[in-house]
Amino acid sequence: MINNTFGIDIGTSNIRIYNQADNSFFMEKNMIAIENKNTLLAYGDSAYDMFEKAPGNIHTSFPVTNGVIADINNMETLVKRFISDLSGGSPKPADYVISVPTDVTEVEKRAFYDLIKDAGVKARKILVVEKAVADGLGLGIDVKNSRGVMVVNVGYATTEISIFSLGGIVLSKLIKIGGFAFDNDIANAIRKEYNLIIGKKSAERIKINLTELEKSGDSALCFGRDIVTGLPIEQSIPTDFIDNCMTDSFAHIIDNIKVILERTPPELGADIYRHGIYLTGGASQVSNLGALIAKGTGIKVNMCEDPINSVVLGLSKVINEDKYRKLAYTIEGKK
Ligand SMILES: Nc1ncnc2c1ncn2[C@@H]1O[C@H](COP(=O)(O)OP(=O)(O)OP(=O)(O)O)[C@@H](O)[C@H]1O
Ligand SMILES: [Mg+2]
Repeated sequence: MINNTFGIDIGTSNIRIYNQADNSFFMEKNMIAIENKNTLLAYGDSAYDMFEKAPGNIHTSFPVTNGVIADINNMETLVKRFISDLSGGSPKPADYVISVPTDVTEVEKRAFYDLIKDAGVKARKILVVEKAVADGLGLGIDVKNSRGVMVVNVGYATTEISIFSLGGIVLSKLIKIGGFAFDNDIANAIRKEYNLIIGKKSAERIKINLTELEKSGDSALCFGRDIVTGLPIEQSIPTDFIDNCMTDSFAHIIDNIKVILERTPPELGADIYRHGIYLTGGASQVSNLGALIAKGTGIKVNMCEDPINSVVLGLSKVINEDKYRKLAYTIEGKK
């Protein structure tokens, strides 16, 4: 039997899986659609297609909330489906390496282990890796030898600010702000200023297109419902208005980065100053967040090429490179 290992980064909005068998990477929305309370209708990207559009008897939801597993049954269903699909129909015995946030309770961390154990995927060995360490590896940092590295992962619901040194976490803080908060900022500001109600997907689209629009000098075109007339309309919105409405959220992230830097032992702080802050996670790409963090902290910011996949890329290195294998550990038996 071939010895196979899967690496999984279970995010609040996206799930990413590395399959060692064919050295492939997979990403889909971490969403489930249930019809009439108990029938699985769709999962992953196809469930997301129904989100905000489905009739009342179809319930779409993300089983992960703020980076931790909130709906264990639906999360088990999703893991089983995705792993079955990647295994040609049904799961075969395999090992699993899962990334976990650091600044959560032991119970919340153990839930990632239990999830794989109970998902019906024939898991043999289940190991976990601190998410920030996997992130660092994915960025190409030799995490076992580096001293003083700061990684800031801006995801969908969370931003994880971590300092690690020699492969171990020194400080880590998980705050409840990310791309979803930026989408809300945009939707709320447009509602207030333009009397226009837009969906979360439209707000996200505007956010993602912002950099391109700024480059071309165009305004953002958005569709929504006019509060006054109740009718659907199209509205053009200047990009600086959109940038400005996310300012408070950006400031909140920057303030927290500063708090962590203030708590960092001076020797490690010197390394961070020299090498810069590493910014990852899907929402790290939002307009000028990187530049604002550099300005707010006085430390250069390294953006990353594929920020939405850096954690799962790191997991693939833990799985395939002997020198990094020890970064994964078991939480079996811990209660
Ligand atoms: N080009 C882009 N510009 C701005 N934001 C983006 C871009 N691409 C993706 N995003 C945002 O990234 C977020 C998803 O990032 P990511 O996949 O890292 O989160 P996650 O791992 O699912 O969530 P979390 O880490 O909070 O559990 C979404 O809010 C999405 O809108
Ligand atoms: Mg994430």
